[in-house]
Amino acid sequence: MNIHAIRKAYIDFFAKKGHAILPSASLIPENDSTTLFTSSGMQPLIPYLLGAPHPKGTRLVDSQKCFRTQDIEEVGDNRHTTFFEMLGNWSLGDYFKEEQIPLVFELVTSVFGLDPTRLYVTCFRGNEYFGIPRDEVSAKLWQKIFSEKHIDAPIVDFSEREGIGNGRIFYYDETKNWWSRSGVPSAMPEGEPGGPDTELFWDFGAHLGIHEASLYKETPCHVNCDCGRFTEIGNSVFMEYVRVNDGFEKLKQHNVDFGGGIERLAAATEDCQDMFRIDIFAPLIKCLEDLSGKQYDASVSVSRSFRIILDHVRAATFLIADGAAPSNKDQGYFTRRLLRRAVFHAQKLGIAGVCCGELAALVVDSYKEVYPQLMEWKVVIVAAMNQEEIKFGKALKLGLKELDNLEQVGGIEKISYGLLKPVNRVDGVRAFFIHQSFGIPLEMIQERLSARGLLVDETEFNLQVKAEKKKHQEISRAGAEKKFKGGLADHSEMSIKYHTATHLLHAALRKILGETVEQRGSNITPERLRFDFSFVRKMTPEEIKATEDLVNAAIARDYSVSWQIMTVDEAKYKKAIGLFEEKYGEKVKVYTVGDPEQIANADASAPTFSREFCGGPHVEHTGVIGHFKILKEEACSAGIRRIKAIAA
Ligand code: ALA
Repeated sequence: MNIHAIRKAYIDFFAKKGHAILPSASLIPENDSTTLFTSSGMQPLIPYLLGAPHPKGTRLVDSQKCFRTQDIEEVGDNRHTTFFEMLGNWSLGDYFKEEQIPLVFELVTSVFGLDPTRLYVTCFRGNEYFGIPRDEVSAKLWQKIFSEKHIDAPIVDFSEREGIGNGRIFYYDETKNWWSRSGVPSAMPEGEPGGPDTELFWDFGAHLGIHEASLYKETPCHVNCDCGRFTEIGNSVFMEYVRVNDGFEKLKQHNVDFGGGIERLAAATEDCQDMFRIDIFAPLIKCLEDLSGKQYDASVSVSRSFRIILDHVRAATFLIADGAAPSNKDQGYFTRRLLRRAVFHAQKLGIAGVCCGELAALVVDSYKEVYPQLMEWKVVIVAAMNQEEIKFGKALKLGLKELDNLEQVGGIEKISYGLLKPVNRVDGVRAFFIHQSFGIPLEMIQERLSARGLLVDETEFNLQVKAEKKKHQEISRAGAEKKFKGGLADHSEMSIKYHTATHLLHAALRKILGETVEQRGSNITPERLRFDFSFVRKMTPEEIKATEDLVNAAIARDYSVSWQIMTVDEAKYKKAIGLFEEKYGEKVKVYTVGDPEQIANADASAPTFSREFCGGPHVEHTGVIGHFKILKEEACSAGIRRIKAIAA
């Protein structure tokens, strides 16, 4: 089954069993400053796991886009990716183990057609310190299900010495069979929910000799072994605990949080050990083979470069569509890092021109039915990638040349036990200079040098990084003193006028350039407004003029400006624009500019000039703003334009 068939079958299966379908939340979490990215299905649902009633009920199903930064360095083998979709079914205080475990079994065997003799299971062995019992209920439920299929399923405590042995159901400790956002029980902060889980594994088969050919061959293989013989295809978390100061308490309700990686399920149903061989990557592999003249599986190092490019371009495509254009901070920093690594590996494969934009277009085509937003953003995505690739590609070529000229530092160094060893390092200060001048990350510098058997002196390198950081912090501290809340320099009359003018401009740009225009930043002083927005190319003089005219027409109509408090859903229904940081159900303040009667009957269809989520303050009537003029329209960063304008 391909991933689209798997997603559909999964959602249909749970919808038939009374689950409401949730759309995927953005990769950029709303109103959650603790993390930069959505990295699991549960993240957007935390309040409901803790007991808040969910507007769609107690049984939910979804496929959530996830991005895991911690896996960036792992990508390159046959199964790690930074981006993936996690299928989830949720019981919010509804059913529990007795229903979940048979459902999962029915799903994977009857719907996905997996052979039950090749399935293995793990359960939580309990934690005495915290008084959390062994999950015998789950283990016994699994055993019963296997026995109904005439499959012998001994339950055993996992032991490293025995490995898989004759077991089928294994108890592991909290490092494997406990789930919370922060990991094992002792690492969880107060108030954090978590619980034991039971994981389901697919066996690619002992006969393939995967374990024997791996680095792990010296120890017996088991389901959690890193050799790759087994892959985890689903994880049911029985989330019923919450961390309190000296231990754990039961949550108000018991929950089920199931997570299944869609790509891994595809690999299991196709019985294909290499996750990059699933259908979704096929057109990308073909494209890279054509561009590089190399076969995907020509060698270990070629496959590694292919996989890094495939994963990183796909992840960056989704990140840009969710608002993280490549930049040097926050989420955008990761998009840039992914793209730069992809460019590095593209050059390594000998690709002379650009490739990321072309590959991204293929990603969009593969996913556009499921994520129509990708289609809306396609032009922006491709342009952002091309721009980053051209800029960085040039710097990379120059930088690598410099790097190849670096010589080994002479001498010998002492390592432990008085042993001496020849130094194979290059000067860290010079490596840092190359890193800084050309924007080449340390990891790429290391990779290039390793081909010559050399390393960077990391201590020296890091000292330079620290010094540079300090300099930056001082500069930005000075800058922050000049910046103010909401992008408003002060609450002077002129700044407030500019603030309302910014809403008019935002609305006008969307009317002239289309709805891919979204605010990306705003800065207002009593002298001018500055507005950053997503748009892929330079505006034409005609478009600039039309935007000015539209804003001036709104000013001339002397529209009234009013605000209402409404729920996020109502605001979205009324097509309010802006950055929604609040969650489902919460209240927000929405400013509306338009004819007063139309605003009074503020229906989604009422043609107001602008409706935007905002904290204020604003003028009461647009007429006071004065004549609006755009002074400058210029590039700000990849896919982002900047307008400076005045009103007089
Ligand atoms: N939240 C669980 C996971 O991420 C299902 O594995």
